Amino acid sequence: MQSRTIPLTRLVPVARLTHNPLSINPPGNLFVYKLLRDALFLMPAETSHHFALNSLKYIQKAGALGPCKALAGAPVEVMGLRFPNKVGLAAGLDKNGDYIDAMASLGFGFIEIGTVTPRPQPGNPRPRMFRLPAAQGIINRMGFNNHGLDAMLRRVAQAQYQGILGINIGKNADTPFEKAAADYLCGLRAVYTAADYITINISSPNTPGLRTLQYGAELQQLLSALKQRQQELAEQHARYVPLAVKVAPDLKEEEIKGIAQVLLETGIDALIATNTTVDKDLVQGFKHGAEQGGLSGKPLTHPATEVIRGFYQQLGADIPIIGVGGIMSVDDAQAKIAAGARLVQLYSGFIYGGPALIKACVQRIG
Ligand SMILES: Cc1cc2nc3c(=O)[nH]c(=O)nc-3n(C[C@H](O)[C@H](O)[C@H](O)COP(=O)(O)O)c2cc1C
Repeated sequence: MQSRTIPLTRLVPVARLTHNPLSINPPGNLFVYKLLRDALFLMPAETSHHFALNSLKYIQKAGALGPCKALAGAPVEVMGLRFPNKVGLAAGLDKNGDYIDAMASLGFGFIEIGTVTPRPQPGNPRPRMFRLPAAQGIINRMGFNNHGLDAMLRRVAQAQYQGILGINIGKNADTPFEKAAADYLCGLRAVYTAADYITINISSPNTPGLRTLQYGAELQQLLSALKQRQQELAEQHARYVPLAVKVAPDLKEEEIKGIAQVLLETGIDALIATNTTVDKDLVQGFKHGAEQGGLSGKPLTHPATEVIRGFYQQLGADIPIIGVGGIMSVDDAQAKIAAGARLVQLYSGFIYGGPALIKACVQRIG
């Protein structure tokens, strides 16, 4: 962590974190991970998700994952923060901040938790997460299932992780669209001192109407209000916490231009591109390919890279881009950087490739 106020509960003896004779070199063996993954894939997607993450959490707590420390990369400064490597964990895998230390011990250069909404909410009925192994994809319609701001902040305070933590905020499903800004402002205020950067998620396809916030006057008003609140909070806490906006991949050229202009006008600190796609043509004919929800993984690799490229043409060096969407290999990570991303994030690639992908990406892009 850099300038974040560190809750006392998070100040733990460093010795416990830095040496462990039982360390199993988590970023290691792809073959072992694939055996484990095949076993996990026998369970329903959401069950295996929780089983795997809870197992990892207990292994980490037992001290067998080694230090809670980023893999050494080529450190880079983005949004005024110093990232030890360019490979982060994307939002949605750890919605409540339950697995911060476990994820950190895998070597990510930064971790984004959430999306968190002001009040707890159950999300959509199950099943709501589907693997498409033949396409190396995932379709989800989770619908921001999360325990709410208060519970997340308790988990953050308990975490030992000292690296860069992003907190991704959204609106409750039952908050009327006209009051959406109030939910984001509430989230911003609540997480301000706990986060190193805050992501405004206006691109999940699973909260009805949310993506409307990406356009025109709605976007302008929302981001202006958030920037103003950010300024007030920065003065109040004598600390500036940058704001990132996360967008969908389903954008036409004109829409990219419109969004980019608003980001520049309002002075947003970073763009995260992209969230999942609603374009199911990419997985037509695959088992589960017609499920409702957002598609991620390999089918998203190219579309997400093209959206990054489109935004980079508009934003240049003025607003840094964090590239996410279908990074399944080191070449995919490299392509995101070549298209203009300064940092990258993994989700589906981590599910399919395991911790070895983090290490391989760090080795290639730093
Ligand atoms: C099961 C699942 C849940 C997700 N939940 C969130 C979320 O809560 N907030 C968010 O901003 N993105 C969420 N995402 C999107 C990811 O952060 C990422 O943007 C997207 O999956 C594309 O990256 P990938 O192809 O590497 O998975 C979720 C993705 C998946 C697969």
